Amino acid sequence: MIKKSLKIPNHVGIIVDGNGRWASERGLSRSAGHAKGASNLEKISIYAINLGIKYLSLYVFSTENFKRSKEEVDYLMDLFVNKFKSSSKKYNKENIKVIFSGRKDNLNKDVIDTMKSIEKETKNNTKGVINFCLNYGSQYEIIDAVKKIAKSKIDIDKLDIETFNKYMYNELPPLDLVIRTSGEERLSNFMLWQSAYAEFYFPKTYFPAFGKKDFDLAIEKYNMRDRRFGGIKYEKKSS
Ligand code: IPE
Ligand code: IPE
Ligand code: MG
Repeated sequence: MIKKSLKIPNHVGIIVDGNGRWASERGLSRSAGHAKGASNLEKISIYAINLGIKYLSLYVFSTENFKRSKEEVDYLMDLFVNKFKSSSKKYNKENIKVIFSGRKDNLNKDVIDTMKSIEKETKNNTKGVINFCLNYGSQYEIIDAVKKIAKSKIDIDKLDIETFNKYMYNELPPLDLVIRTSGEERLSNFMLWQSAYAEFYFPKTYFPAFGKKDFDLAIEKYNMRDRRFGGIKYEKKSS
């Protein structure tokens, strides 16, 4: 159980990584790793929102992941469709709103239809927001925002951070904490804009094995950081 005194971040990002390695260490197929990762993701995301996290951005498929074999990409797309269909009821019961960030091109109709339907079914929920980053690349998000701005009627001299943010796939608050499982310490094109002042945490655990206790530890580590935002304020560290 997480300590009551801990500050809960408003927006957390998870770069879901290590499904393949988790599987290969167990002599299983990469697909088995993805399946285990997906069921864990549902569990962890509901847990996180119930802790009081208002926005949870989950990196589940990058624009670059299309470089993988057709077999793996097809498996992942089918898994997304099945998961979104089966978890829709749960997210509704938990009062969680689901949204998506990413390009829609390259995605098949089945995937797009399922995304649209879970968004519609959960749109009035208020406890927290899960933002699935699917066919997402942060550099493309910035390019797409610039294109929308160029086509808009806004006065370019008045463009500021707040206005720019409105042209992203979703208008989101800044990330407070980014967790990447599996020991890799890179962003791989995840939310470059939104993570300007985020804290980073890189546990070694592969995502399918990343449980509630590991998530609690991430929140504890976050609470030990001094967030200064360019200022000189030193906060007392909690142990
Ligand atoms: C993360 O696990 C899932 C996706 C990127 C879709 P990986 O598939 O990247 O797992 P590893 O990095 O090969 O272990
Ligand atoms: C990043 O993981 C993308 C997602 C988690 C969806 P990758 O496994 O694709 O990243 P790299 O290739 O190791 O940087
Ligand atoms: Mg990986």
